Amino acid sequence: MRTDNKRVKKRRLLVVDDEKLVRWSLREALSEEGFVVETAASGNEARQIFQEFEPEVILLDIRLPDANGLDLLTEFKEQNKDVIIVMITAYADADSAVKALKAGAEDYVGKPFDLDEIQHILEQCFLKQKLHRDVDFFRREQRKRYNYDNLVGNSLQIIEVFKLIKICAETDAKIVLVLGESGTGKQLVARAIHFHSARADEPFIETNCAAIPEHLLENELFGHEKGAFTDAIQREKGIFEAADGGTVFLDEIGDMPLSMQSKILKVIETNTFRRLGGRQDIAVDIRIIAATNQDLQGMAMRNEFRKDLFYRLNVMTIFIPPLRERKEDIDPLVNYFIKRLNEEYGKQINGIDPLALKCLKRYDWPGNVRELRNAVERAMMLEDGNVLTARYFSKEIIEYADPSAPDTVNTGPASGTIPAATKETVNKQGIISLPPDGISLDYVEKELIRQALIRYDGNQTRAAKCLGISRDTLRYRIKKHKISLSNNASELSTHA
Ligand SMILES: Nc1ncnc2c1ncn2[C@@H]1O[C@H](COP(=O)(O)OP(=O)(O)OP(=O)(O)O)[C@@H](O)[C@H]1O
Ligand SMILES: [Mg+2]
Repeated sequence: MRTDNKRVKKRRLLVVDDEKLVRWSLREALSEEGFVVETAASGNEARQIFQEFEPEVILLDIRLPDANGLDLLTEFKEQNKDVIIVMITAYADADSAVKALKAGAEDYVGKPFDLDEIQHILEQCFLKQKLHRDVDFFRREQRKRYNYDNLVGNSLQIIEVFKLIKICAETDAKIVLVLGESGTGKQLVARAIHFHSARADEPFIETNCAAIPEHLLENELFGHEKGAFTDAIQREKGIFEAADGGTVFLDEIGDMPLSMQSKILKVIETNTFRRLGGRQDIAVDIRIIAATNQDLQGMAMRNEFRKDLFYRLNVMTIFIPPLRERKEDIDPLVNYFIKRLNEEYGKQINGIDPLALKCLKRYDWPGNVRELRNAVERAMMLEDGNVLTARYFSKEIIEYADPSAPDTVNTGPASGTIPAATKETVNKQGIISLPPDGISLDYVEKELIRQALIRYDGNQTRAAKCLGISRDTLRYRIKKHKISLSNNASELSTHA
């Protein structure tokens, strides 16, 4: 019957019951099942054996001649919170059973019981214990992954971010807005806040508002009652309910449909919500962390995002500056990634070649830390020496900054000497500067579209977003400029 036949170590089990027959039968049956069994006939005896024998499981009679089983239960749990206690009661009255469960008993069994029932209950207890241990382990691992050690950087800007994370975590700020370009670490920051706050042991549930179609998002967030729609065959909890006590991370909030925005506003203002098809307000205690790489303020001004929600969200705001504005972080980040990836892939790369680092520091990282991580990962996979060199960096990174060139080149908008109105005017850096002889606006537009398409591997939705135009407009302009889309995005070309 046991689920853990493979168990090598025998579990210690204590039977506490004043009936001799009960003690005897349980000892016989459970010893056979592989337990080391001790028995006690009274509360005092049980206390003594508890100290010496250190049982892992106790079958505890609720009525003993010299003690109340419920008091003993509390005593034992206080001394060892992991001990599994199953109450035995001749009076299978719901009252004491409920009290026992509240006081920490795993289960209870009414007398007379049959042995199979006890065995079944014990099996369930062990299973539950294993689940709890797995969850604890998982949480510890999560916390390890998302402690501050995983947020690398020593620039003044990132230190400011660390400070804000700490304040948000410690003050239990209910609403936090995290802003920053794609790949700057918004998700990492959200997790750091949660896992450093008093809510760390409660759930952290995230949802990507851009990835879920509008009609499903409401269900995802608020859940539904049975019969709320055709497929709602039973009541289901949404994220807000499941995360009660913890944190909800609303990623890409800028993409949340306006209709949902008003519902989120209601949750923020009243701390309640309704399931789809529900008639009752459900109260929750959650922290909402919202993130976006969009200009939420601009969107609010253009009525593309609810102003009232924006003002509600924009109280405790953490802005993560793009990597190009904190290039001091590149060095520690690269070393951190090398260390992590060495472990992950069993490589032994000892640091980075100074020229290669120089190259990385010149590049402007439109994809921010994510792009940097990917670049390091790719180079590490291919690198056969024991130091990371520039030879396996992508063409884009190498072309952007020739590491053998003097430091003054390509370090930022201010330093660029812009050539005349040639194709290089919109140069590799993507820096636009009006050349002395002027330039055709048409050409600039065409070139920027081409670059956006290359950056996003031909993905028109993302390219359009990056250019701040609709996909239809982008399509129209691709046609207008006769930009041809070959299969290989890096070969995108324009035909004048
Ligand atoms: N300061 C940092 N230290 C270490 N790793 C970082 C840091 N910032 C970002 N990263 C890493 O960069 C990658 C992107 O981070 P994350 O997913 O948090 O970005 P994001 O801002 O949420 O991006 P998006 O807007 O595209 O969702 C992840 O692999 C993350 O671990
Ligand atoms: Mg993200």
